[in-house]
Amino acid sequence: MGSEFKVQFPGTNFPELVVPGGFSLSRKLDVQNSPILFGCRTGICATCVCLVEGSVSPPTDDEKEVLELFAPDEPTARLACQVKVDSNLSIKACLEG
Ligand code: FES
Repeated sequence: MGSEFKVQFPGTNFPELVVPGGFSLSRKLDVQNSPILFGCRTGICATCVCLVEGSVSPPTDDEKEVLELFAPDEPTARLACQVKVDSNLSIKACLEG
């Protein structure tokens, strides 16, 4: 049995979600249950850029390149569609819907 983790959205009215460990955030988040918006879901468009607190899978070189363009001054920035959940997380959207 895998573990489950809590994903919270501080500063919003979205209730916390429970996500199975190792799941990609984009499999669980949508426009109804989170403030994160998605576009391509393949790590190209940067619609889903967000600030993540907690332990997650490290970014690939491709994701790092996108983050350097869209969130150069944010060390905790990630593309939500590329993140796999490994711990309880707090997530803040960078782009508001
Ligand atoms: S949805 Fe396009 S980069 Fe994540």
